Amino acid sequence: MSNKNIDWSKLDFSYIKTDKRYVSDFKNGAWDEGRLTEDANVVINECAGVLQYAQTVFEGLKAYRTQDGRIVTFRPDLNAKRMEESAKRLQMPIFPENRFIDAVEQVVAANADFVPPYGSGATMYLRPYLFGTNPVIGVKPADEYQFRVFATPVGPYFKGGAKPITLRVCDFDRAAPHGTGHIKAGLNYAMSMYAIVDAHNQGYDENMYLDSATRTKVEETGGANFIFITKDGKLVTPKSNTILPSVTRRSLCYVAKEYLGMDVEEREVFLEELKDFAECGLCGTAAVISPVGKIVDHGKEIALPSGMESFGPITKKLYDTLTGIQMGRLEAPEGWIHEIKV
Ligand code: PLP
Ligand code: COI
Repeated sequence: MSNKNIDWSKLDFSYIKTDKRYVSDFKNGAWDEGRLTEDANVVINECAGVLQYAQTVFEGLKAYRTQDGRIVTFRPDLNAKRMEESAKRLQMPIFPENRFIDAVEQVVAANADFVPPYGSGATMYLRPYLFGTNPVIGVKPADEYQFRVFATPVGPYFKGGAKPITLRVCDFDRAAPHGTGHIKAGLNYAMSMYAIVDAHNQGYDENMYLDSATRTKVEETGGANFIFITKDGKLVTPKSNTILPSVTRRSLCYVAKEYLGMDVEEREVFLEELKDFAECGLCGTAAVISPVGKIVDHGKEIALPSGMESFGPITKKLYDTLTGIQMGRLEAPEGWIHEIKV
């Protein structure tokens, strides 16, 4: 199926340069028609808005090879809409939804040989992003922007694949200091670099961020939302307007209800109640569902009953159902699967 000679089963979540990427420039108040290019380098002025004041937003979605050999993406319209919200918050021009989807289609089709085979454990990660390109020295938005999409085949986000991970309750805030935690902006992620390196140095896989106002409520991790399963089989997920509105999480809430007949609660989740949950998982495009086995709160260990060896049973069922929909083993809800014509 592929002529790229990649050992798909060995991939981790790293960048691999693929053949073509999409570029469109915004100048004099309008987007140009856009194009595919083989040039993976971006050359911009030393004073570009993105370099000085981090005026950049991004998205993340995947292309999947289905059981019957098609290539599909999952709900790309939601990524386009979320990028629109992110761009508005950073005073950037909107890249229209239909053009966002067209750009994704073009990049996937142009790099179809890099879409890992069905069942390989790898997928193609797509990274749309938008940044200010012209010189800006006073604190104000740029006038010129570039929108790009590149593709890279990836394996599991966390080393060890389905092995449960360990989190630590984090004392740092991940959101930039302007309440932008609910959008996907570069600065939010830059703000998490210290915390993630510190967590890794101390032997943890990721950080559990808390609400910065009271430090009593669970928010999300550096790159994924939380889902919890109660002892009576309910799905609970934190309600907060300072976390990223995850496409995976929104999809899982629907899948839990409509496919698995579960009760679903989106509500505040307190640090204090972690010890009462039966299972915990991180959900996101990159994380898919990554099981959490242990959470350490300032030396106090909270061991999830599902343990450190494998997925909890309900988390596993959610994982199988979601990936079943994404890879064509199960019928998808209307509009979720976007087929790419190659
Ligand atoms: N939260 C953060 C901070 C993320 O970076 C991501 C990944 O995009 C998510 C949550 C999950 O969002 P999604 O399911 O849309 O990928
Ligand atoms: C994603 O899941 O798409 C993410 O953006 C997570 C991480 C790679 C930042």
